Amino acid sequence: MIPIAQVVLEEDEIEAVVRVLRSGQLRQGPLTAEFERRFAASVGARYAVAVSSGTAALHVAYAALLQPGDEALVPAFTFFATASMVSAVGAKPVFCDVDPHTFTLDVDDARRRMTSRTRAIAPVHLFGTPAHIEEIQRLAGEHNLRIVWDAAQAHGARYRGKDIGSFDDVVCYSFYPTKNMTTGEGGMITTNDEEIYRRCRLIRDHGQEAKYYHTVLGFNYRMTDIAAALGIRQLQKVAGWVQKRRQNARYLTEHLHDVPGIQVPVERPGAESSFSLYTIALDLEQFACDRDEFVGRLHEKGVGASVHYPRPLHHQPFYRAEYGHLSLPVSESLSARVLSLPVHPKLTQEDLDRIVKAVREVAEETRRSAAR
Ligand SMILES: Cc1ncc(COP(=O)(O)O)c(C=O)c1O
Repeated sequence: MIPIAQVVLEEDEIEAVVRVLRSGQLRQGPLTAEFERRFAASVGARYAVAVSSGTAALHVAYAALLQPGDEALVPAFTFFATASMVSAVGAKPVFCDVDPHTFTLDVDDARRRMTSRTRAIAPVHLFGTPAHIEEIQRLAGEHNLRIVWDAAQAHGARYRGKDIGSFDDVVCYSFYPTKNMTTGEGGMITTNDEEIYRRCRLIRDHGQEAKYYHTVLGFNYRMTDIAAALGIRQLQKVAGWVQKRRQNARYLTEHLHDVPGIQVPVERPGAESSFSLYTIALDLEQFACDRDEFVGRLHEKGVGASVHYPRPLHHQPFYRAEYGHLSLPVSESLSARVLSLPVHPKLTQEDLDRIVKAVREVAEETRRSAAR
């Protein structure tokens, strides 16, 4: 089976981790500080705060910017944590629909859902595709909203020549092993605002202004130097891996865009995806099967396709009672129609050809006779 994701871990990274283990300095220390400096420099942000996961990054960012009762505009088609961490700080996620082409936040829909309590907007660069950055900045500027960019899947994505990690107010990354770079578990927050940086550092470490002197509610979301050693090495390689992902994506698009009933990822001018995932959408009218059967058939042919995400957030059991009545047609439709194909940098040309062949075959085998 060609896996949907594969960690790239080389000897120098393993040695770097072993050196930390031998040193006995395991907790957050100088390597974490070095990782933060290098990460901030690599994305063009003034500050970076390393944390223990992407979820922790979002929790810290929302805690730094939101008060209980505030509302934050969040896409309904994303991973749970984009919204659940808004709930975790006592604020309210307001679910918005997504654009059917980019799968990122539909800014017009977000505008319609604003109230007098809206304080923030949390766009997601989903699958590595930059969100509609300028429209989001305009909306935020007009209404004095804070922007928390969820870049968990978007290391190396660029917008009009700038890394997406350099945008205001706060950018949150994940280093989970399926992401473009990894520290095992881990996350990073970048910002250009000194006060936000100060607050995020405090919240990461129990709100301790000085040892055992706690001024705000905080948590233990510190990164270990073991993870940071890995992160420093991975950071040196991630641009090359992203380039390979982009090449792989281009090949898949070239060879799949003409398959009737299959929508391939779009790249708008100036918006460079980092292709954390290569996600296609099926026009189910054209196939005599549902998406899950399509995925099952790809598995039978050795292609590790997967589904991100099978259920929009307002239909998740945790949110259904409060939000289940909402109509977010694009999010609902995409959840039933999307599937992701392997695009990671370890793919060989033979793998790419096998993926293309399998998708084309399954599309033909399952095509409705009227659509043939
Ligand atoms: C869009 C998005 N947001 C947040 C997260 C949370 O990151 P982590 O798994 O590191 O907590 C993820 C990762 O799965 C994600 O894909």
